[in-house]
Amino acid sequence: MNPNLLNKFRTPETPGSFFLSFEGIEGSGKTTQLKNIESFLINEKKKRVLVLREPGGTIFGEKLREAILGSTVPLHPLAECHLFLASRAQLLHEKILPFLLIPDSVVILDRYVDSTLAYQGLARGLGVETILTLHQHNPLNLLPHRTYFLDISLETSMERQKKRGQEKDYFESEKLEFYQKLIDGYRSLTSIFPDRILKIDASVTPEEVGKEILSDLKKIIA
Ligand SMILES: Nc1ncnc2c1ncn2[C@@H]1O[C@H](COP(=O)(O)OP(=O)(O)O)[C@@H](O)[C@H]1O
Ligand SMILES: [Mg+2]
Repeated sequence: MNPNLLNKFRTPETPGSFFLSFEGIEGSGKTTQLKNIESFLINEKKKRVLVLREPGGTIFGEKLREAILGSTVPLHPLAECHLFLASRAQLLHEKILPFLLIPDSVVILDRYVDSTLAYQGLARGLGVETILTLHQHNPLNLLPHRTYFLDISLETSMERQKKRGQEKDYFESEKLEFYQKLIDGYRSLTSIFPDRILKIDASVTPEEVGKEILSDLKKIIA
């Protein structure tokens, strides 16, 4: 990876404030786990917490979420990518950046840049460098302090999605081969960002996954 490109990125610097994200394929437990750390941060660390999901999180972003996840035709990977980036830029501008200026605030994101790297960069084949290049300017160049990548197998994801029993969206109706590429893609991102992304075995019970996340979080947030 080109080090000059990685140098374009930054993390928020407000004292006591943190930017966190959750990543992983459908059913990996992102929504379950972020609720767990939200209550820890509010009750035990007395932080102001903002939880947001991608794509979406703003009125404009929710419209884009509809456009992407509700699409009945296959979109070109670059079209997909630019829709996600538009939603993300607006979310950063309207919500994330202003909130992170407040001391002792924490923003927790349910999916962020690593989703674009894994889905459009690796599974759809645009490449990691292309995606990072598109993120190099303000406000898109903001990286989380920590990203929890919840790692599960294809089989586990399918089982949990079946149990949840919702109608499949645009990405969920992809072929198994696409899902495997996504899993491999996420796993390979941990070596590009070894200090930021923490891979967690999310095939165990929610309690065990939660414990591992909390033990890491306690080291970051004193
Ligand atoms: N560690 C776990 N073990 C078993 N089931 C889980 C675990 N974590 C989450 N689930 C269940 O799997 C489904 C997907 O979890 P969810 O948190 O919605 O995942 P995501 O937000 O990553 O798609 C839910 O029905 C949830 O109750
Ligand atoms: Mg979820």
